[in-house]
Amino acid sequence: MCLYKNKIVLGDCLNILKNIDSNSIDLVITSPPYFQQRDYGNGSDGIGKEKNENEYLQNLLLIFNESVRVTKKTGAIVYNVGDKYLNGGLSLIPYKFAIKAIENKKVFLINDITWSKLNPTPRQDKRKLIQSTEPFFIFAKSKKYHFDLNDYLKHLDDFNKKQKKASNNIGKKYFEIIDNSELSEKEKDNAKVELRKAIKSVHDGEISSFRLKIRGIHKLAYGGQAGGRNNQIKNNGFTIIKITGNKLKKDIIESPVENTKDNSHTAVYPLYIIQELIKLLSKPNDIVLDPFNGSGTTCLAARNLNRDYVGIEINPDYVKLAQERLQQTKIQQELFL
Ligand SMILES: C[S@@+](CC[C@H](N)C(=O)[O-])C[C@H]1O[C@@H](n2cnc3c(N)ncnc32)[C@H](O)[C@@H]1O
Repeated sequence: MCLYKNKIVLGDCLNILKNIDSNSIDLVITSPPYFQQRDYGNGSDGIGKEKNENEYLQNLLLIFNESVRVTKKTGAIVYNVGDKYLNGGLSLIPYKFAIKAIENKKVFLINDITWSKLNPTPRQDKRKLIQSTEPFFIFAKSKKYHFDLNDYLKHLDDFNKKQKKASNNIGKKYFEIIDNSELSEKEKDNAKVELRKAIKSVHDGEISSFRLKIRGIHKLAYGGQAGGRNNQIKNNGFTIIKITGNKLKKDIIESPVENTKDNSHTAVYPLYIIQELIKLLSKPNDIVLDPFNGSGTTCLAARNLNRDYVGIEINPDYVKLAQERLQQTKIQQELFL
């Protein structure tokens, strides 16, 4: 049981994290202040105002290591860190952080997700392209990390499936191709049996489509994962590749920058991305922690998805803002029930 369950705690996260038990949090998602980027009104306290990037990275890694300590073996730690131009060139701070984060081998990097901003600041430098991406690094402590691909970006799968309607002709062309192939009579019979099953799976909605590959007609695939299929083609004369209709889940997520009209915090990350990551990396009733809570986007996303949350924030105004945001959306949600 976490001491701070469903609370937003005022304080320096390095100190507050020390009060949280090891292996007690299911998921950490956060975005620390970027190096020398913004003033969050914390004077010389807080992170981000260090004189040089080494100092910044050292401070950030102390907090990262505490985030790792409190995370369960089945959990994950997500850090969103932005880059900065120094002396005309990108400093690559996010990647320096990620390299240092995995150095002590307590975590490994599952994914480096690129957030593609659909509406980046429209300030075009004549000699540089607009910077419109940021990384979200997903680290895990053990191979047992929770990972629910079906729930991640599920709305895109549902959309995809609605778009595809099984036609009556699906797969029919293959009967003729089998008959005209070099396969033996027995192989042809087997291929037709499997073809009928695949057509039925499409009509029953179990798969959205399939491809049949036949020896002597289709080329063997090249490369590592193709071995099994190539053997099926060689030994049985054919193979069937089933297509589920789910969109491929890639390490890129598109989202506009959050509109800060109703939020006085200057660096709010998109609720949409955080909700998708929470669905990917945790289950209902899990506990999600944000050590740099700001206006409380992580807590809000966690609560929307029936997870518990803990937020830590050094600035009392932002603690209040996050609490108000949670309270307001709770009232709105209750009104619509
Ligand atoms: C990039 S913002 C997070 C914004 C948040 N993701 C949101 O959507 O509102 C980083 C926050 O970390 C806070 N902060 C800086 N140093 C801190 C520290 N040592 N402990 C806790 N919070 C800190 C800042 O005040 C700021 O609100």
